Amino acid sequence: MHGIARVLSKLGVASRTEAADLVAAGRVSLNGRAVRDPEQPADRWRDRIEVDGRPVAGAAPVYLARHKPAGLLTTAHDPEGRPTVYGLLPPDLPSWVFPVGRLDGPTSGLLLFTNDARVGDALTNPDVGVPKTYEVKVKGQVSPAKLEALRDGVELDDGYVTSPAQVRVMSTNEGSTWMELTIREGKNRQVRRMGLAVGHEVVKLRRTRVGPVELGELPSGQVRPLTSAEVRALRAIGKVSAPRAKRDARRSGPRPPRGPRRGHGRPH
Ligand code: URA
Repeated sequence: MHGIARVLSKLGVASRTEAADLVAAGRVSLNGRAVRDPEQPADRWRDRIEVDGRPVAGAAPVYLARHKPAGLLTTAHDPEGRPTVYGLLPPDLPSWVFPVGRLDGPTSGLLLFTNDARVGDALTNPDVGVPKTYEVKVKGQVSPAKLEALRDGVELDDGYVTSPAQVRVMSTNEGSTWMELTIREGKNRQVRRMGLAVGHEVVKLRRTRVGPVELGELPSGQVRPLTSAEVRALRAIGKVSAPRAKRDARRSGPRPPRGPRRGHGRPH
């Protein structure tokens, strides 16, 4: 369990400092009782937490898919007031929802929102390795050797070596290539950096699938609730993988030092 201010920031409600201020101002309740101590232990998987009377954890679960247009930031509040992915979410949602993982400002495509911490954690946990598929347009023609390198794993600018990926060319002409790329990690700007690692700048990037959920024909900017089959599939990932990932993390002890290695990156 963490202090309630940390839990609020993990849920994406506010930064840690802002969350501490919300708590100190008496705007946060835990299981129906107002709390004033930002360090009050809270469990985002089990406790009911409300801010200004609106549930942010412990409410009936909500699962949404949004087609994020390029140009929106994946954050709750931008200090510079730029548009965020929260714009155009239905205003009458029964609960706070957080985006599952992050898409860069210029990246478009499928972004899931939920208030189900178990599902959110599982989908972004690199130890779980849920596949995410992207359509990627890069400059130039990509040689078979470079496609093979992307499949095997490439060394990014910080020395991190990516895990095996699935890659196929969708179309190509003299100036550019569209590829479909599936990765099971989520390092910061990973696909763009994978492109650079093989000498091909990514000029367009769209996410088309996260685990069992597909973007499909959802128009840009639109939001849809997930189907019950999709929710069942996501919950199955959350149920099976979250305890296993926690147990594995405990077993493996302290994390290895940073450096060239495969596999275990922080989700972005
Ligand atoms: N990889 C990127 O480079 N950007 C994203 O937004 C997602 C994956």
